Amino acid sequence: MRLILAPMEGVLDAAMRALLTRIGGYDRCVTEFVRITNQQLPARVFQRHCPELLHGGCTAAGVPVYVQLLGGDPDCMALNARTVEALGAPGIDLNFGCPSKTVNRNDGGSTLLREPERVHRIVASVRQAVSPTTPVTAKIRLGFYDSSLLEDIACGIEAAQASELCIHARTRLDGYRPPAYWEQIRRVRALVKLPLIANGEIWTPADARSAQQESGCVDLMLGRGALSRPDLALAIRRDQAQPGPAATYRPPLCWPQIQALLHQHSEVMARNHPRYAVSRIKQWLTYLRRQYPEAEQLFQRLKRLPDIHPIQQILALPEPQGLPHEQ
Ligand SMILES: Cc1cc2nc3c(=O)[nH]c(=O)nc-3n(C[C@H](O)[C@H](O)[C@H](O)COP(=O)(O)O)c2cc1C
Repeated sequence: MRLILAPMEGVLDAAMRALLTRIGGYDRCVTEFVRITNQQLPARVFQRHCPELLHGGCTAAGVPVYVQLLGGDPDCMALNARTVEALGAPGIDLNFGCPSKTVNRNDGGSTLLREPERVHRIVASVRQAVSPTTPVTAKIRLGFYDSSLLEDIACGIEAAQASELCIHARTRLDGYRPPAYWEQIRRVRALVKLPLIANGEIWTPADARSAQQESGCVDLMLGRGALSRPDLALAIRRDQAQPGPAATYRPPLCWPQIQALLHQHSEVMARNHPRYAVSRIKQWLTYLRRQYPEAEQLFQRLKRLPDIHPIQQILALPEPQGLPHEQ
């Protein structure tokens, strides 16, 4: 079983990838998407999205980070893929799933799922532009309005010799609304030999097992679940007795450990990304609320604080005793 940390624009940046891969259980990460329009982007743009390129393309814990490209022009995607490869990316991922209206209006992301032939050409063009040893992976949804083109899209991606295909088991129209239709991935599983990765709505080890059973895929990609439960990958491995790369089984992280992680993360963010520090800590707390009731209480205390320093002070303190009874 391989577990992959999902790309999440505005959420899963290098600092969060470093934190989650340090906790462990992940085989690979994917960067937030880099928008490719009609020009060759300079190296610094890719290095900003993927600072790991300056350290051998891996997080500090040694987990490879694929760079994700998003765009609709096969030649331009190929040109930029070559740059990314030259910068030392361990792999290149192609985004055909982004539902954003702005992105879709500009010929990128899930809008391309309406044109399986163009998806094929983009993957083929990137595949041919880089060394055969550089993995080129694709990430799709089930379709745009519905999943009627799913087989065409997947077969086109296989024919273009992609290394792997990750399927987020919802259409663009479904957005992020539960459920994820894991069983739809089986249609592709029956048709292609390409390694497949199932994604969508995996929050617990039990969800992971259901996603595997229903999709027929062993490998999974974890997105929001990884943020709501930072040791989700380890918990899934423990549940399935598959130690994975780090070979660590730990007891589940308890709230004081999570709060310590929040504090460490706030320090990293305040130092390296002061403009985003406050919003990113609050954002992470909103994900953590799903798993940890304490995160909700902490969120209520922090939500109106506009500066990172008082937030850091609160995060550094042990949880106030008796807080649940005070409300
Ligand atoms: C805030 C946010 C940002 C995302 N950004 C990206 C992205 O940059 N590239 C991409 O391929 N998918 C992106 N996704 C989709 C996720 O990678 C994933 O497919 C989706 O969240 C479903 O998985 P989950 O239910 O485990 O979160 C994003 C999702 C969210 C919620």
